[in-house]
Amino acid sequence: MPAIIVVGAQWGDEGKGRVVDWLARGVQLVARFNGGDNAGHTIIAQGHTLKLHLVPSGILYPGVTCLIGAGVVVNPQRLVEELDTLAALGLDISPTRLKLSAAAHIILPTHLVLDGAREEARGASAIGTTRRGIGPVYADKASRVNLRAGDMADPERFAERVAEGVRAHDRRLEEKYGVSTVSPDATAAEYCTYAQRLRPYLADGSALVGEALAAGKTVLCEGAQGLLLDLDHGTYPYVTSSSCVAGGALTGLGFGPQHVSRVVGVAKAYTTRVGAGPFPTELLDETGERIRNIGHEYGTTTGRPRRCGWLDVVILRYAVRVNGLNELALTKLDVLSGLERIKVAVAYERDGERTAYFPAEFGTEALAEWTPVYEELPGWQEDISGARRREELPRAAREYIARVEEWAGVPATFVSVGPEREQAII
Ligand code: IMP
Repeated sequence: MPAIIVVGAQWGDEGKGRVVDWLARGVQLVARFNGGDNAGHTIIAQGHTLKLHLVPSGILYPGVTCLIGAGVVVNPQRLVEELDTLAALGLDISPTRLKLSAAAHIILPTHLVLDGAREEARGASAIGTTRRGIGPVYADKASRVNLRAGDMADPERFAERVAEGVRAHDRRLEEKYGVSTVSPDATAAEYCTYAQRLRPYLADGSALVGEALAAGKTVLCEGAQGLLLDLDHGTYPYVTSSSCVAGGALTGLGFGPQHVSRVVGVAKAYTTRVGAGPFPTELLDETGERIRNIGHEYGTTTGRPRRCGWLDVVILRYAVRVNGLNELALTKLDVLSGLERIKVAVAYERDGERTAYFPAEFGTEALAEWTPVYEELPGWQEDISGARRREELPRAAREYIARVEEWAGVPATFVSVGPEREQAII
């Protein structure tokens, strides 16, 4: 029957993998629609902790087919490594279970070099990218010069085009940044082996989704990053280069809006961000440090410490509007346990003027003129990790969730109270 879309409602790292893991139990197809291996989610399977970057987490459920959609950018080396890791754990990663859209774009090693060179050249105004080549590959997509996964169907021709692509990047790198890079021929040979390996996974992603929906199956669309990293609606230029919002699921997978039955926005019970750019509720004090330590707020992909701050419902309201959220999944509530008082930004103020929505469109300088207006709520001291129903939570924790729902205007259908799969209130 329907399509369910899961998106990040903040700056990424909200715990989308966890929510996808919860929802994947009842679906037939899990499809990733944007980003590349800049994303990362940690999953615990068969006693092992896995860090996946490209393969959707639905792969853990035997009956689920997984799709890497057209909107995703794929580093084939990374994908092959992930397949090897999953296979070593005994998981079925055969081409009947995992599909790669032929329209997904391919990352070359020189995209990574370009990413690094551009970041270095920006100096103090660097974006703080993951240096996985994401910006350069999406720029080449818009310039219509990339290789796509479907080109791997003919590995020899693919290898020739890889060499051409690397040479073109090399020229740019030498002229503009004085950087020398990888060998075109060695890269071509290496990419030829990836093409041999990945060719069986190629599929028409849009057809796969369309057929599943027509057959009454449920398709779970998995977003990477989050609203404020979205290329159009985020804190530009401190954003990633893809469409992280619900609309990105439609363009990134190739189906129409009439199929969407549910849009779930994932938000932490506080806020984090990695990389540079504005962050109105950032805490540069002991409380921020405490949240980082208790919440293990270090990047899955780069290991960088995440910037931490109070929950900002101005952002959540904006997420409800841009994505058409019907519900929130609130993660890591347990990290706030032990705080005396908890602050939440409920509006922004500038020269006596108030706004309830995140003013993203006028850019980061205009955003800096606004200051958050906080409400303070009582904290709770109890360990909440054993709660499985809202009634089992301390009163202050129940109140916190209820106020967030009221401020955001949508219900929280999932609240996580610990890292284990079952540590959640649904
Ligand atoms: P890029 O996507 O590597 O170009 O990085 C652009 C910005 O997005 C940087 O601030 C990154 O830290 C951020 N970013 C990219 N992917 C993720 C993610 O999965 N979680 C959180 N931040 C991310």
